[in-house]
Amino acid sequence: MTRRITDGARHRPQITMLDSAEQVTHAAARRILDYIATTPDPVLGLATGRTPLAVYAALVGARRRGVSFAAVTSFNLDEYRGLAADHPASFAAYMRRELVDHIDIRQGHVPSGLGNAEAIATDYECQIAAAGGIGLQLLGIGVNGHIGFNEPGSPFDSRTRKVRLTEATQRANDADFPPGTPVPDEAITMGIATILSARQILLLATGRAKRDALRCAFGVSPDPSCPASALQYHPHVVLICDRAAAEGLA
Ligand code: PGA
Repeated sequence: MTRRITDGARHRPQITMLDSAEQVTHAAARRILDYIATTPDPVLGLATGRTPLAVYAALVGARRRGVSFAAVTSFNLDEYRGLAADHPASFAAYMRRELVDHIDIRQGHVPSGLGNAEAIATDYECQIAAAGGIGLQLLGIGVNGHIGFNEPGSPFDSRTRKVRLTEATQRANDADFPPGTPVPDEAITMGIATILSARQILLLATGRAKRDALRCAFGVSPDPSCPASALQYHPHVVLICDRAAAEGLA
């Protein structure tokens, strides 16, 4: 079902501003663990990139202390097109390395980067719906305001689909690939409407580099030139950021 969003009301995120990236990590992990502890069949939306790394380490630490993730199903936002799940730079490999291999999660889904993109996208939306929809979506924000791999210009009513990556995004992720291996120029990503269908969104932003992205997300009227500005249409966005990123909200 496609929910219409762009004629909806606008909302302010609930903002928690903290002194350090470390505090952002702790606050985010606590929220995720609270969600899991209080929800019968928790469905998490998960992100990759540098921002959530320490959050995943904190969740792995919680598992070592006895917290169970056995009831949790997760769905990742995106994957590079052309990379098999065992490619070290794939998001599937990232998730196994950082989280899934270290916790007792029921099932962790990452959209496949190989095969018919349209069929994979349709199937991914069906799997999310069959799991009951995403209860809590963890989200980072790109320096250009992208969420998932929804680059500037992405329609707010987009669902999971194949997309082309901007050169800026390819450059930002270049360090994850061995020297000489180009960053793929296509990906499969949940759409903006898919992300907005989550019941709650937990957006993390740390560092000065994210200042302008937060400004375009929450400081001006929603516009597809800044994909994250679509979050203004969601009534339950929790933004946890450090002071450096929060300068964009002033
Ligand atoms: P980052 O990426 O966490 O590596 O800054 C965020 C994003 O591109 O969504």
